[in-house]
Amino acid sequence: MKIAMIGTGYVGLVSGVCFSDFGHNVVCVDKDQRKIDMLERGEVPIYEPGLDALMAKNVEAGRLAFTLDLASAIEGAEAVFIAVGTPTRRGDGHADLTYVMAAAEEIARAAKDYVVIVTKSTVPVGTNRKVREVVAAANPELEFDVASNPEFLREGAAIDDFMKPDRVVVGVESDRASKVMSEIYRPLYLRDFPIVTTDLESAEMIKYAANAFLATKITFINEIAALCEKVGADVKQVSKGMGMDNRIGNKFLHAGPGYGGSCFPKDTKALARIGQEHASPMYITEAVIAVNEDMKRRMIEKLQDLCDGSFNGKTIAVLGVTFKPNTDDMRDAPSLTIVPALVGGGAKVRVCDPQGQHEGEVLLPGVQWQDDPYDAATGADLIVLLTEWNEFRALDLGKIAESMTRPAMADLRNIYNATVARDAGFVAYDSVGRIGFS
Ligand SMILES: NC(=O)c1ccc[n+]([C@@H]2O[C@H](COP(=O)([O-])OP(=O)(O)OC[C@H]3O[C@@H](n4cnc5c(N)ncnc54)[C@H](O)[C@@H]3O)[C@@H](O)[C@H]2O)c1
Repeated sequence: MKIAMIGTGYVGLVSGVCFSDFGHNVVCVDKDQRKIDMLERGEVPIYEPGLDALMAKNVEAGRLAFTLDLASAIEGAEAVFIAVGTPTRRGDGHADLTYVMAAAEEIARAAKDYVVIVTKSTVPVGTNRKVREVVAAANPELEFDVASNPEFLREGAAIDDFMKPDRVVVGVESDRASKVMSEIYRPLYLRDFPIVTTDLESAEMIKYAANAFLATKITFINEIAALCEKVGADVKQVSKGMGMDNRIGNKFLHAGPGYGGSCFPKDTKALARIGQEHASPMYITEAVIAVNEDMKRRMIEKLQDLCDGSFNGKTIAVLGVTFKPNTDDMRDAPSLTIVPALVGGGAKVRVCDPQGQHEGEVLLPGVQWQDDPYDAATGADLIVLLTEWNEFRALDLGKIAESMTRPAMADLRNIYNATVARDAGFVAYDSVGRIGFS
């Protein structure tokens, strides 16, 4: 099959590469000249483990190409995927559909033969119908169908998630479109991965409901963690005991500094907005958004307590600034709230992140970047563990404590514990949902 992929970000590039690995001929399109130049040179613009090798293999096999020219990419394509961004619209929390609609119009103008226009971007309920209207208005002669195919991959494990999904969701309205979609996903279907076929609206809703539910689960355990601190319970034990119940499950029950990233913040806001627009309030999701914001404030208070009430004049080492490990993505990362509060409070901030510097340099002005966590900690008054990269999971805490001016640690991912920190020579330690010491 010939497939065109519009947008080569985290989702478009991974999807395009994986579809080509299924054996399809894929052309990936982007408007960003820098990205296309890099891709044509064989460089991957994002950090995603395993993507470079898989991309090289399929380019080499002649199944994968990159271009700025949408018209040439969709020539002869049986399916065109829209995988452009849908960020939060400024002011009202709605998903900004400008890029999706612009891509739909461009596809309509360039397409000549029957094509299935598939929305992979996360879009509010009703968007696929609007895409159909936009395409029909721009090219009334064109024979086409629309399909909704939301993506569930996780950054950092994106290839595995795409190749071994829990399920693929496909919203279609015609048998013809359904056949094209089945053909595209046949390699997964043959290996018994479930394909859930629905109407357009249900497919769109599944994506928001799934993300809002996961954000709720994280936020629930974060709120429980706050209470654990007050009553003297240990949230790690609590979540372990909860998660062993199969009805609950142990995933997304790790207390931390609040969710961030390219999806949960914007998708929860968009769902809340969809609810408001349809007079069907999403009370739970609205509470999740508010509690998550409060979590970041709580974290800043914790750091302040560890700095004797003021950041002014302190040296603080921050380990990890990406929103989670194994990605370079900084979108809505908790670090974007926490680090500026430290800098604004007068601290000298040193930051160490295995992949975050490229994105983070612009977003976190006024910090000093360090390649090595031990260098970052030397002479510091506080070390903050903010993203649980593997590189930070087995640090020599004794060596770190010895090198610090005042060995205090804020372990916002609960990697270590109070006993380990005390034994290593720390004079103060705090984490999330567990009793610390100072
Ligand atoms: N990032 C994730 O983990 C993830 C997971 C599941 C779903 N999603 C959803 O997938 C969509 C894409 O997310 P992303 O993180 O890949 O976005 P991104 O911002 O990384 O990439 C979007 C790309 O689209 C390009 N683009 C925009 N308009 C274009 C046009 N008209 N023609 C060609 N290229 C165009 C941009 O230049 C950019 O490179 C979003 O709706 C997001 O919610 C993301």
